[in-house]
Amino acid sequence: GRRRLLTGGALTLGGVLAGSGLGAAVRRPDDVRPQPPGYGRQTVPFHGPHQAGIDTPAQAHAVFLGFDLAAGTDRAALVRMMRLLTDDAVRLTRGAPALADTEAELAALPARLTVTFGFGPGLFRAAGLDDRRPASLEPLPPFPIDRLQDGWCGGDLLIQVCADDPLAVAHAQRMLVKDARSFARLRWTQRGFRRGRGVEDDGTTQRNLMGQLDGTANPIPGDDVFAGAVWTDAGPDWLRGGTTLVLRRIRMEMETWDAADTAAKEFSVGRTLGTGAPLTGAAEHDPPDFNARDAFGLPVISEFAHIRRAHVADPRQRIFRRPYNYDDAPAADGTPDTGLLFASFQRDIAEQFLPVQRALATSDHLNQWTTPIGSAVFAVPPGCAPGGWIGEPLLG
Ligand code: HEM
Repeated sequence: GRRRLLTGGALTLGGVLAGSGLGAAVRRPDDVRPQPPGYGRQTVPFHGPHQAGIDTPAQAHAVFLGFDLAAGTDRAALVRMMRLLTDDAVRLTRGAPALADTEAELAALPARLTVTFGFGPGLFRAAGLDDRRPASLEPLPPFPIDRLQDGWCGGDLLIQVCADDPLAVAHAQRMLVKDARSFARLRWTQRGFRRGRGVEDDGTTQRNLMGQLDGTANPIPGDDVFAGAVWTDAGPDWLRGGTTLVLRRIRMEMETWDAADTAAKEFSVGRTLGTGAPLTGAAEHDPPDFNARDAFGLPVISEFAHIRRAHVADPRQRIFRRPYNYDDAPAADGTPDTGLLFASFQRDIAEQFLPVQRALATSDHLNQWTTPIGSAVFAVPPGCAPGGWIGEPLLG
């Protein structure tokens, strides 16, 4: 089976390295093992009640594109834009070239490409439809932990592009940006990644660049808790089956994080680095015991541990995190530019995201090492059927 293959492979590689020294290691024909087949050809259906790229198991690569609408992009222009961009997404996600695709060859391996659209507050004003904007879709209030940079904030239109292959992301990005450019200008581009597909078994919780298992206590796509937390079922009719996205760019202060010891790091979150188990348990998915006390009578999971502060009991109040790591060029002196593209999907920003963010902004040990530097909010329309286009129930 698969496990035997992997083990065998590791032994072979180890043997080569040990036998001949790293520099002299020669790749022998028997090291060329069969690769997981066909990841490049895999597709995620574009059409359906919800847009893809939300409950889709997170692909390895992502780019978030934030646009400002150009002056004069009114409702009629938005209809043209969304028809065009939807058409691009339909074609590219099934592995076909976009219309007038100049590098058609690149479209052939979509690698689970998804394209997800979101509407920022400004789009509703431009369309003359501010009365149909969800009430809580507005820039987040300022938090004392914020060090926001304007260049990473706001945006009227979001395109989230994800795939297991960076070339597939780059090609889709180019086609979509090309077609958006007569309607909108790019405000920011945020690239993110997780581990390469196949490096770990599918479904393994990802690690962020602080080394933590990140995503353990997330709602599980496909179940009722997820549906009740993520898909909008109240508010403006047109958004039913859609959701909202809060995208925070959160810098990790790696220099000071590196100076902390393992106990301090684990204490700050309330989980271990090795397995991701809560400090009161042994395995990743053991439920945390927030009442447990140590020999001194102190809580095992600190009052200010990230998982205690972020935890909500009511399943309807939960958020769904779909974050990506970012690791841009270090400064000339070697200071890293590392962090999380913290993407949070929820029915309603005010009901779900804000209470958690407020609790964390007030007191969370992890704040010592994390700094929000970007912030944007979007309504994410529901999906569409073949022949339809994203945003039609609002703009059409
Ligand atoms: C849990 C890291 C920011 C909400 C966790 C966990 C880690 C983590 C390691 C535990 C494992 C897990 O359940 O995923 C981080 C890092 C952040 C960050 C490194 C910033 C760079 C945020 C923000 C929010 C948030 C901004 C929301 C506003 C949550 C929630 C949980 C969680 C809801 C699950 C809590 C529970 O156990 O019920 N985070 N986080 N996190 N985080 Fe964060």
